[in-house]
Amino acid sequence: MTTIKTKVGIIGGGPSGLLLSQLLDLKGIDSVVLERKSREYVLSRIRAGVLEQGFTDLMREAGVGERMDREGEIHDGVVISDNGVEHRIDLKGLTGGDTVMVYGQTEVTRDLYDAREARGGKVIHDADNVQPHDLTTDAPYLTYEKDGETHRVDCDFIVGADGFHGVSRKSIPADQIREYEKVYPFGWLGILSETKPVNDELIYARSDRGFALCSLRSQVLSRYYVQVPLDDKVEDWSDERFWDELKARLPEDVAARLETGPSIEKSIAPLRSFVCEPMRYGNLFLAGDAAHIVPPTGAKGLNSAASDIYYLYHAMIAYYDEGDASGLDSYSETALRRVWKAQRFSWWMTSMLHQFPYHPEFEQKMQETELDYFLGSEAARITLAENYVGLPF
Ligand code: FAD
Ligand code: DHB
Repeated sequence: MTTIKTKVGIIGGGPSGLLLSQLLDLKGIDSVVLERKSREYVLSRIRAGVLEQGFTDLMREAGVGERMDREGEIHDGVVISDNGVEHRIDLKGLTGGDTVMVYGQTEVTRDLYDAREARGGKVIHDADNVQPHDLTTDAPYLTYEKDGETHRVDCDFIVGADGFHGVSRKSIPADQIREYEKVYPFGWLGILSETKPVNDELIYARSDRGFALCSLRSQVLSRYYVQVPLDDKVEDWSDERFWDELKARLPEDVAARLETGPSIEKSIAPLRSFVCEPMRYGNLFLAGDAAHIVPPTGAKGLNSAASDIYYLYHAMIAYYDEGDASGLDSYSETALRRVWKAQRFSWWMTSMLHQFPYHPEFEQKMQETELDYFLGSEAARITLAENYVGLPF
């Protein structure tokens, strides 16, 4: 068995794990990232597209903001349409200057991989059967298998950044954590197409036929979603059927100018709210999707991961530079306070904009009134805007 020694052993080479290892490296703190899949596989996953300002600032601090600043699009507003009527939320005006950046998770991850490679960072792909050990001691370690051999990583801390289905959270004894979960009775069917986006800004569309979202990755790459029943399969949805359904949920003028084309990716994602408390067990710290999941409405998944990394990074710097463990001790509480606010916003946006099967008439009326109130009240629009651009870290 070969053994590597490092300060921080990170499970998961998604955006959370890579961003943390890059930030720590710039402060001289060594880490090793163990990723189960290949780099190509990780980069083939089409996920989030909207970055909060706090996230983009962290990318710049990590020295990986250059391409993002060149190729990403700053968005000053978003559109919410309610059965064909468009309402613009002026994010910048309502928040006193805050905006969001449209730059895909794939690109974020690619930039982070390139930066780790350029600095000689240790990112080990195709690491099978990663297992954390001795979590409640001062000498935790990881084992993994690669090329038919077992390897060991000795470290001070382990960070579980291995997503919802990873091994980290599952390594915590069940009586030491509490899990909160809500599963929604629908999913999102998403497609990527090499077409000009239908609108300069994102459109979140509520309609009697169900929710739809018009998003984008660039001026030549569109990302669209429609709400679908949970048991629908991708095979049920030809491109033609997708475009027809999307158009039927959008305002008429938007539908009329929608450019259609073949999809280059098509997938269905279930919608779930999930939080694990606390986000620490001994010397294992959970971050990102390993600890919490939101339904995608409101674009908070990746951004919540980034705020965990911000807190963890600062806590680790204080520990290594000054021997101050207080940030590590309060990490879970601090991170969860913001996590729950992102949960609330995502749950609320989801509840307000989707059609729910078996919704009693009264609930339906409340949903319509909620949206009517929010679109009509300046105070309410400010609330929506400050959450959408992201609460401060
Ligand atoms: P992940 O990106 O999941 O990264 C975890 C990494 O750990 C993965 O690379 C995985 O291969 C690796 N891993 C897992 N298990 C192990 C193991 N045992 N050993 C080693 N490595 C392991 N958010 C939005 O804001 N908007 C969206 O549109 C959106 N769409 C999404 C669609 C899907 C299908 C999913 C699953 C998520 C989506 N999200 C979206 C959420 C967003 O992508 C996540 O919040 C974000 O990826 C979290 O980053 P992470 O690094 O914490 O986790
Ligand atoms: C995207 C996804 C979201 O969930 C969202 O709220 C905004 C944009 C996207 O994939 O582009």
